[in-house]
Amino acid sequence: MSGRLGVERTVAGLRRRIAELRAKGLSIGLAPTMGALHAGHVSLVDAGRARGDAVVATIFVNPTQFGPNEDFAAYPRDEAADFALLEKSGAALVFAPDVREMYPEPGLTTVHVAELTSGLCGPFRPGHFDGVATVVTKLFLASLPDRAYFGEKDYQQLQVVRRLARDLNLPIEVVGCPTVRESDGLAMSSRNRYLNPAERAAAPAMHCSLIALAEAVSAGADCRTAEVEARATLLTAGFGPVDYVAVVDAESLAPVDRVTRPSRALAAARLGKARLIDNVAVAAAASRR
Ligand code: PAJ
Repeated sequence: MSGRLGVERTVAGLRRRIAELRAKGLSIGLAPTMGALHAGHVSLVDAGRARGDAVVATIFVNPTQFGPNEDFAAYPRDEAADFALLEKSGAALVFAPDVREMYPEPGLTTVHVAELTSGLCGPFRPGHFDGVATVVTKLFLASLPDRAYFGEKDYQQLQVVRRLARDLNLPIEVVGCPTVRESDGLAMSSRNRYLNPAERAAAPAMHCSLIALAEAVSAGADCRTAEVEARATLLTAGFGPVDYVAVVDAESLAPVDRVTRPSRALAAARLGKARLIDNVAVAAAASRR
């Protein structure tokens, strides 16, 4: 099951180790993370192993995707626990660079994915998706994997990464993996540890409200009306402010009025010190026009 986990701190070392894995005939699967790993992250490693890839996990708390008032400094870091979990889950290698290795000098190049980043979390986290797209591109080019595994938990991020890989002709298959949840429905997140017990008890309301929203709009309800109801449910449960509750096209992320194509219901809201996000699929009812 578990093997010896290789640890690399430099891009040069990463490239060398990946060349060795390839020389053994192995395909490479990349699982980028910011650490504070949980079962959601492990599911990405599992997905890669299931496809037969040697899985390279990355742990890098990327400063360029955090806003000035966000939690970069406070972001949970526990490298020893992360390495132990990766070793147990059968990852072949972990790339854990420091900030200077990833950004030896202030970068003059930014990867910007337009349109997909203009709504949802975009306006609430200016610069965030540029930071994500740029660091993911750097990680892709440092490792040149066959496949890269990303969680549907961060649905907008997944669409952004899919699109940048397509637009830049990167020969990398971006694989989306289902959201791993606690038994009460709360999506696992490194930021859940910011919740106090009362907030933790209230947190599953986000998933519940999204399920109810998805069912309503799937059955033909007007999306704007149903979004207002879901927002009210979140506020009643103790969330606030609610950044957005939205039903959008599953691929373009453009708002939809009534669901006629595969769509996605997403929400972002603050609960105490944590900003939680979640989303669920919305099926287009087959019988409806
Ligand atoms: P991070 O939040 O650590 O998440 C790393 C990966 O794990 C992402 O693809 C995310 O969607 C996935 N993930 C997190 N929670 C999950 C869950 N409950 N179920 C399934 N997958 C889950 O996302 C980032 O880091 C960063 O933005 C990164 C892509 C690493 C770029 O810095």
